[in-house]
Amino acid sequence: MIILGIESSCDDTSAAIIRDGLLLSNVMAGQEVHKQYGGVIPELASRAHQQNIVPVTHRALTLAGVLPADIDAVAFTRGPGLMGSLLVGASFAKGFALAAGASLIAVNHLQGHILSHFIECPGQPRRRPSFPFLCLLVSGGHSQLVVVNSFLHFEIIGQTIDDAAGEAFDKCAKVIGLPYPGGPLVDQLAAQGNPDAFRFARPQVGGLDYSFSGLKTSFLYFLRDRIADNRAFIEENLHDLCASLQHTIIEIVMHNLVKAAEQTGIREIAIAGGVSANSGLRRHVREEGLKRHWKVYLPELRFTTDNAAMIAITGYYLFRAGERTPLDTTPVARIG
Ligand code: KG4
Ligand code: ZN
Repeated sequence: MIILGIESSCDDTSAAIIRDGLLLSNVMAGQEVHKQYGGVIPELASRAHQQNIVPVTHRALTLAGVLPADIDAVAFTRGPGLMGSLLVGASFAKGFALAAGASLIAVNHLQGHILSHFIECPGQPRRRPSFPFLCLLVSGGHSQLVVVNSFLHFEIIGQTIDDAAGEAFDKCAKVIGLPYPGGPLVDQLAAQGNPDAFRFARPQVGGLDYSFSGLKTSFLYFLRDRIADNRAFIEENLHDLCASLQHTIIEIVMHNLVKAAEQTGIREIAIAGGVSANSGLRRHVREEGLKRHWKVYLPELRFTTDNAAMIAITGYYLFRAGERTPLDTTPVARIG
């Protein structure tokens, strides 16, 4: 069974081929155009997707040694994401499926991030979480705690009520003059800083939900006060600021992850999404796992940020379960 996956929910255009659950190719094209604006500009993102989608898919097919007629199903990201970006991927997937005589399968982007743990690469056997497992999904648009009961059955038990963890990284990084997306740069700079140098607000909301907007405000006010005394405060303390910010975000996400593991009694613990690439978060999850006898699953770095391999593997499990999407299905910017 051969699945073509298409991902275009935000600012990465990606196509991947999966045969019987094995990844044959995963091609990505990022979009440099947004860097100068300090964030993703939706209209520019959809235009760049239009330019990238054909060459990216062509390359994925070539690398996999697969012809359009070999494809059984085209899996595409239906949402959540930017509507203009989603429309490019959805329209392309429909046209391709129609022309190649393949089935169409709509995929939830968040389910894709979670199932990235099941992407298998030829010759590289991987540990996979057993059901039920608990997944901390932290990306630029989402922060959720999800109980994953099977490939297709999920229960969201906690989520952010305002910003996502990745947004907290990116927005605070912007305040200290780092380009978009700031998360990976904060991670790099934090490596040489003291995580206990400064303290910022750690907002707690009820239950297992998250909130990050108070952290952003506290970071901003802290800097405003320090800069009033010393105009070079940011430059002189860049590493410590990044390390302390990263430490705060990790503490916030870990607090509810630990609580969720205690409440559900689940010890199979996975993380997913762009922020799961963060070296500090990966270390904390591993350390907490040793202390609490968790089995910890960290995604391969190349499958943390948006990619089509995760969409293709989700499409594979949906296809096997008999799922088919009608051609008149439209993308959705928000789900749930
Ligand atoms: O999953 P993703 O590619 O897109 C969404 O679905 O949102 O996540 C992108 C987010 C951005 O906010 C980016 O700053 C963050 O993931 N990110 C990181 C790291 N790598 C990517 N945040 C912290 N540390 C990293 N190493
Ligand atoms: Zn994503």
